[in-house]
Order: sequence, then structure tokens, then C-alpha cells
Amino acid sequence: MTGPAWEYDGYRPQEERLRESLCTLGNGYFATRGALPECAADDVHYPGTYAAGCYNRLTSEIAGRRVENEDMVNLPNWLPLRLRPEGGDWLTPDTAPVTEHHQVLHLDPGLLERRTGYGLPGGGTLHVRQLRLVHMADPHLAALRTELTVEGRAVGLEAEAALDGRVTNSGVARYRELDGRHLTRLHTGTAAPGTVWLRCRTRTSEISFGLAHRLTADAPVIHANEAHRAVQRVHLRLVPGRTVTVDKTVALHTSRDPAIGDPRHAAVERVDAAPGFDALRESHAAAWEQLWRRCALEVPGEAGSILRLHLFHVLQTLSPHTADLDVGVPARGLHGEAYRGHVFWDELFVLPYLNLHLPEVSHALLRYRHRRLDAARHAARERGRRGALYPWQSGSDGREETQELHLNPRSGRWLPDHSHLQHHVGSAVAYNVWQYCEATGDTEFLHGEGAEMLLHIARFWADSACYDPALRRHRIRGVVGPDEYHDAYPGARTPGLDDNAYTNVTAAWVLTRALELLNALPEPRRRELTDGIGLEQDEPARWDEISRTLHVPYHDGVISQFEGYGDLAELDWAAYRERYEDIRRLDRILEAEGDTVNRYKASKQADVLMLGYLFSAPELRSLFARLGYHLDDRTWAATVDHYLHRTSHGSTLSGLVHGWILARARRADAWAFVQEALRGDIADLQGGTTGEGIHLGAMAGTLDLVQRGLTGLEPRAGVLSLDPVPLPELSSYGFPFRYHGHWGVHLRLRSGLLEIDVPASDRSPIGVRLWDEVIPVVPGETARLVLPE
Ligand code: BGC
Repeated sequence: MTGPAWEYDGYRPQEERLRESLCTLGNGYFATRGALPECAADDVHYPGTYAAGCYNRLTSEIAGRRVENEDMVNLPNWLPLRLRPEGGDWLTPDTAPVTEHHQVLHLDPGLLERRTGYGLPGGGTLHVRQLRLVHMADPHLAALRTELTVEGRAVGLEAEAALDGRVTNSGVARYRELDGRHLTRLHTGTAAPGTVWLRCRTRTSEISFGLAHRLTADAPVIHANEAHRAVQRVHLRLVPGRTVTVDKTVALHTSRDPAIGDPRHAAVERVDAAPGFDALRESHAAAWEQLWRRCALEVPGEAGSILRLHLFHVLQTLSPHTADLDVGVPARGLHGEAYRGHVFWDELFVLPYLNLHLPEVSHALLRYRHRRLDAARHAARERGRRGALYPWQSGSDGREETQELHLNPRSGRWLPDHSHLQHHVGSAVAYNVWQYCEATGDTEFLHGEGAEMLLHIARFWADSACYDPALRRHRIRGVVGPDEYHDAYPGARTPGLDDNAYTNVTAAWVLTRALELLNALPEPRRRELTDGIGLEQDEPARWDEISRTLHVPYHDGVISQFEGYGDLAELDWAAYRERYEDIRRLDRILEAEGDTVNRYKASKQADVLMLGYLFSAPELRSLFARLGYHLDDRTWAATVDHYLHRTSHGSTLSGLVHGWILARARRADAWAFVQEALRGDIADLQGGTTGEGIHLGAMAGTLDLVQRGLTGLEPRAGVLSLDPVPLPELSSYGFPFRYHGHWGVHLRLRSGLLEIDVPASDRSPIGVRLWDEVIPVVPGETARLVLPE
């Protein structure tokens, strides 16, 4: 096989978890970690399979309290295929001599290949080559081909394939004290001809699952089902020089699927109707080829290879199949159990990329939020406020899923978790509604569900703001910003901080957009909406006033992260860096020392600086101007400098945001952060967390860094603005995108020449703005713009 690949050599138990995450195969509907089929879950291996949006809630006893947690459920393992030489034991790399081991993730065709040599008892070597796919065209199918060749002597070999229902959610050590037994009512059975099945359901959410598999080999297949495992076996005779092939074809359905009777029947029928491995592989590769064409990102060199891997995992989590599902953006992909498969604000780093390639997927992800608008309104009401308060962590039904306690593995203490006070997640939803509509021109959505969300989120902000006569400004108090290290004032009894600059500025933006939209709505729709939400007559005027008077605190000539931030102590960064190998999780270090990060000017990740990520410099200036503040380049540069020296980057999102804004504010320093974002998962920079799932926001964010960050590409008011910024290490790139119904628009930058190619169609020209000039690019034409040195 040729084409871009991701390769691992040798068997290294300590790296296995990381490889499993990075070799996950998925299709947006479900995904399976790249675990070895002969290994069950233990301290080294963790073969997880997750179907998007399938959660279950359980209650556990922790630190003397009953806590409830909703988890994305680990499904029965469809991978098992183990081998046993006559008179020997089942072969695993942990118990048998391994003569070679090689694992290759082939990105273009979406295949995982593994080759292992096992030394056999009594002499000889068994060469195992496996090819695995999770089908991108038929999202319910997966397949595993195993090719067996013996060297040195002839051997009898038993091959056993199974669907294993004896799984729990136990992939994250920190969560082990929580109940992870989500599945119940396991049954197995045989369906003629030659297919076995397993069905089960979740304990509380009552989602049922049906899996079926069919083994194909040049030998009679024996059914040997057990209570919790659907099993097929074959006895093979291997002679040197002749390769024997065993194919396992698997189908998965859940009770959430449309157009099925029940999941078990659907799975059995699906696997029966499935063609052989070669045909499956072909149709799978064809589906991938189409995806790559829509989403290609042409960047040379090492950065390009990493970006391609990131794109691969983004598309495996959020594929065209996602458009049919009721799911959000899982922060850690469908690749592991960290954060329990929950949905955070990370879609802020994902949707802007998808909007320009797979807008129907963005649309579906926004509909996930819209279906949970009532839950968000309920959450606001519970706080005595109107509007919608989206949860910091969201799962099945849109209630707040943030854990009440979290474990600091350094101190072993369970601590109260106040991150649910990150109300800014609502602004991320609103921002995504707006960006999606700007990129697609989808006014149906903007005037429909989009407007409902935007108005309710705006209303929540207006109701959260209280007027402070002394300051003569509005304030939003008792929140937590994106830097979740600071969750209270030092010594305070109640959690929350006042006037988080990011929260206030984005709230002002939401209010402004909501007013703009209200004015732009066709009159009948405006009536519907205002009647529907009971918008009082004076509310728009109040929104307008708040959008102009929210307080933004300053200290020492820079924007303060929140009111009082300037009074916090300086941390001795050098001393901590010397004392600890890695200070990314400074919060845990300080807590374990009996101190608290709340006392210091020390942030986990970009907070104030997020403003430079979301808004171009002119837009940010005008937002500040509307709020009555003059934001000049000097103040912004000083603000960047201030936080740059006081951030530990305890989230993969931080390197990305810093790289993005430094590319404009301090180019020489940008690359180090871009690299941190590029290497975050492949090098597992957050200290072992990638093995628990990839960081989807950072992965998608790096794609968007090229797409929007470096080009300054901004779809706005029907015009495509560009404001390219040179980054020497990423100086040539190209990508196709979709914009306002134009398919395959191609942007290319090479040797200071920027080209935009608009394919022929009957659509209107695209207005492209470069700095102050707007030029119309007619379909069928290419615009060439020479950038200054
Ligand atoms: C970050 C959040 C992020 C979450 C999920 C946390 O570590 O601080 O900003 O939403 O991870 O990715």
C-alpha cells in the first residue's frame, strides 16, 4: 500500500494505550480503538468501541457521597480474534515470543494494518497480518481480515472470533472508583447461516445494541456461543509457503437507528447481506476518497503529515453520517473514555473548520444544541433567570453533566468541581450559529432554530448582568472563564469570579448579534419569535444598553482576566519549572502542596487571549469601542505578553490559541506554540492523556489554523475577507472549501502568490476582500493576488 501512513515499530506495552487511540478507526457513527484483536482489556490493552451519542447514567459512592455520572458507553468488543497452536496457549504479545511487530495506519484508504511474528512452542514462526476497517460508506459495518503464514514447520492452529459482551467502562484510571458497568441483559445466539449475534442494553438509558458477525475461512466454522460471548471457531492446517485467510465481518446497530425493526435483526441482516472483504474494502476506500477530496489540506513536510492525521481523526468522529444523528462534538473523539464522551465548548474549535467542508455536519451539530434548548432554558430558570444556560458538559438530554467532584491524582483527594460555572459555553453556541450561517448563507436556519438559540442565549446574558452604580457599568458575577484554574477568589466561601473579560466581551457580542438579527428578521417571523418567547417591549433597548456597558477590568495597562486578578500573587514560575518536570497541571501540583492556584496570576489556558482567537483585530477593536473602551495595538500586545508569561498550557487548546494569535501579534514566537498544538496528541504532551482519547478541539483547530488563522479568511456579510499572515514554517498551503453553495472553491498560497479558484457554476460571483478592496470572482475564474513581502 502506498500513500500517507502512520507507523509504529516493535511491541512496546507502555505505548500501547497511545497507539490504540491514534490508530482508532471510525466513521462518525461508531469507532473502535486500535487495540490488538487477541488482547482483552487489562493494564496494557483497552479495546473500546463507542457509538456516537450512546450514553448511560449510573450512580456511584465516592468520598462518602452519592454521585451521578453519565458516560459514553463502551460497547461489546467486536475485535476478538485469537490464535492457538495445537497443544499451546492463546498467543498474545505479552505471553508469547514476538519476532516482529509492525502497525501501520493507512490514512488514504482508512485501513489499519498490523504484522506480527510469533515464535511457536516447538519451533517455527507464525506470521500474522491483519487489515481492519470501520466502513465509511455503510456506517454499521466493520471488517477484519487475518492472513496467516507459518515458517519453519507445518502447524495446526485454532482461530477463535468473538463478540465479547464482558466489557465495562474502565479505560481511565481516575474514574475507576466510579461504577462502569453500563451493559445488561446480554444474550447471544446463532442465526443461520453462519452468523452469530450478541444483544444487550444499557442499564438506565435502555439503549439496545445488536451485533452480529460472520467468519469466513477455508475450513468448517464451528459455533461455540457462551452466555456473554458470541463465538465462532475454525481449525486450520498451516503449511509453510501457503497463506491462509480468515475474514471476520461485523455489523452493529443500536435502538437509536432509524429504519430498523430491532437492532439484533438489523445487525444479522446487515452482516448477511455484506459482501466479502475485498468488495467492502473497495467501497470503503471510495467513500474515503470522496471525503479526502472535500477536505484535502495540502501542506508539505512534517506539519502536513500531522495535519493529515488530525483531519483523519476529525472525519472519523464527525463524518457525513453524523448529519443523520442527534449528537454533539465529543471533546475526546470516539477514541476513549476521558471526559466520559461529554460535549464541552470545544465545538468552537471544530465547527468553523467543518462549516467550510461539511456544512450539513455542522448543521446537525447545531441541531443537537437546539434540541436541548428547552433543557438550557430550564437551567436558566432554576437560577432565576430567563433565556438559555447551556451546560458546561452535555451528554444525552442536555442537562449539566459536569461532575460534582474530581480526583486530583497527585494528592489522591476528591475535590469539588466548579467548572459548571463556565457559562461562556452559551456564547460558543451562539458564535457557532453565526459562523455557520455566514459560511453557508443558510438563512432558513438563521431565522429558524438559529434565531431561537441566539435570542435565548442573549436573553440569559441580559438577565445575568446587574448594574453597578459605582462603576456605572453592568457586571456578570460568579462565573468561571475558559481558564478553569481560577474558580474562586482566594479565601472565598463561594465559587465564581466577577467580570471575566472573555465572558463579558463575548456576551456583548452575542447581545449585539441578537439585536442585529431581530432587526433583519422578516416581520412575520420576528412576530412569531418575539411572541413565542414573550419578548417584552423594553428588552431590546435593555440588551442594547448592556451590550455597551458590560465591564471589562484592566490592571497595569492590560486587560484583566477578571476583576481582582491584578491583586493576585505572582507565582515563582522558574522555581516550579525547576522543581517539577512538567507544570502543565499546576492546579494539581499546588493543591497537592496544600496551596491553591486561585492565589496566583497563573492560568491553565488562553482566557483573555481567546478574544484574539474568535475575533479579527478590527472586529475586536469595534467590540471594545462599542463597550466604550479604546483597544489599541499596544494594549493588546501588552495583554498578550502578560498572559503568555503566566500560562501553564494545561489544555491542548492553549498551544493552538497561542499559536494562532502570536502568528499575528509576535510572529517569532508563534511556531513553538503551533508545534505544541501539532504534537499535542502524537507526542502525548499532556502527560498520558491521549491514551484516554484524542483531543478533538486541538486537532480540528490546527486544520482551522491553516484555513482561517493564517489566511485571515472570514466569511462575513456575504463577502469572503482575507487577511493572510506569513508564518515562515507554514508558508505554502492549499485547500478546497464550500462557501454559499459553491463547491470546490480552491485557495492556494505559494511564493507570496494567493490564488482563489472558483469552479464553473451558475451561481453568483464570490466577493473576495483583500484588505480594503473587494473583487468579484466569477465562477470558472481564478483570482491571483500578489502579497507584499
Ligand atoms: C479544557 C477545556 C476543554 C475540556 C475538554 C479541558 O481541559 O480546560 O477548555 O473544554 O478540556 O476538551
